[in-house]
Amino acid sequence: MTETLDIKITKTSNSRLAQTDFDNLPFGQIFSDHMFVADYADGEWKNFEILPYGDILVSPAISSLHYGQSFFEGLKAYKHADGKVSVFRPDKNAVRFNKSAERLCMPALPEETFIQSIAALVDIDRDWVPAKPGYALYIRPYMFATDRYLGVAPSKSYKYMVLACPVGAYFSKSLRVKIETHYTRAAEGGMGYAKSSGNYGVSMYPARKAAEEGFDQLIWTDAKNHEYVEEMGAANAMFVLDGKVVTPLAQDTILDGVTRDTVLTLAREWDILLRNAKYLLPKLWKVPKMANLPMRLAPVLRPLLLRLVLSVTMAKSIH
Ligand SMILES: Cc1ncc(COP(=O)(O)O)c(C=O)c1O
Repeated sequence: MTETLDIKITKTSNSRLAQTDFDNLPFGQIFSDHMFVADYADGEWKNFEILPYGDILVSPAISSLHYGQSFFEGLKAYKHADGKVSVFRPDKNAVRFNKSAERLCMPALPEETFIQSIAALVDIDRDWVPAKPGYALYIRPYMFATDRYLGVAPSKSYKYMVLACPVGAYFSKSLRVKIETHYTRAAEGGMGYAKSSGNYGVSMYPARKAAEEGFDQLIWTDAKNHEYVEEMGAANAMFVLDGKVVTPLAQDTILDGVTRDTVLTLAREWDILLRNAKYLLPKLWKVPKMANLPMRLAPVLRPLLLRLVLSVTMAKSIH
């Protein structure tokens, strides 16, 4: 039997809900009324608390600021037509959360604690879950090291927090995508499969260079020879080639996405031809039109993933 988490709850006396324009929700800028916080010290998780969203006080010496012991997750809660609220597959994110923790020498968070923290926060802030189709409450669980210590060593204390933001679609248009064949996001033996903050920091400079050339996103290729497609910006890459759904193998350079798993599971159940492969760039340059997408899969895939690659513009990087 799973134990119910003992959460101290302090509700806001000053809700921002009424002042929030739910027709204008720039990603990650508007936060719900509350946040979840817990501490790790002396080998255990404690001080589970939901309190009004706001700034926190930390020491300037915390090791996450200096050595990057920090990672996060991202998932969404949706409102159904009958007003019920569901969180999409939080169990998958709970497992991935602990894979990231392990890679960064950080403590595991019991999967039940992860799920209950999210359920409690979403429950308190359920009026923040947008009802419009295509909108959701984005949930951001994260963990960071809090030891005040400038030596390079895993911290002994950590904070786990969860924030929530009402959001619309992440992308509002089809994208110009550049295949990056110089810069690298993740190499074999590295931490591409973890959702570590550093993986996102390292991708910003190449993304900025690509933006200067007029691209919206990068498709990353393998670090060794830049021959194989790996993933795209903050999404897994999927293509439809010769009537088959094709996606790179989940390996240690790739974040194994929950959306990816969902699409592949549906594709398998529906007998849609699937190739989970290392995908050579030259083959991809002959990418056929997305119109080959089998019709009954299209309505599911489109909102999930493939919309990201509808207008893939192939470009070799010039270096
Ligand atoms: C690098 C990267 N790959 C893939 C994904 C997709 O993961 P998921 O489908 O679990 O959201 C993300 C999501 O943010 C990401 O940042």
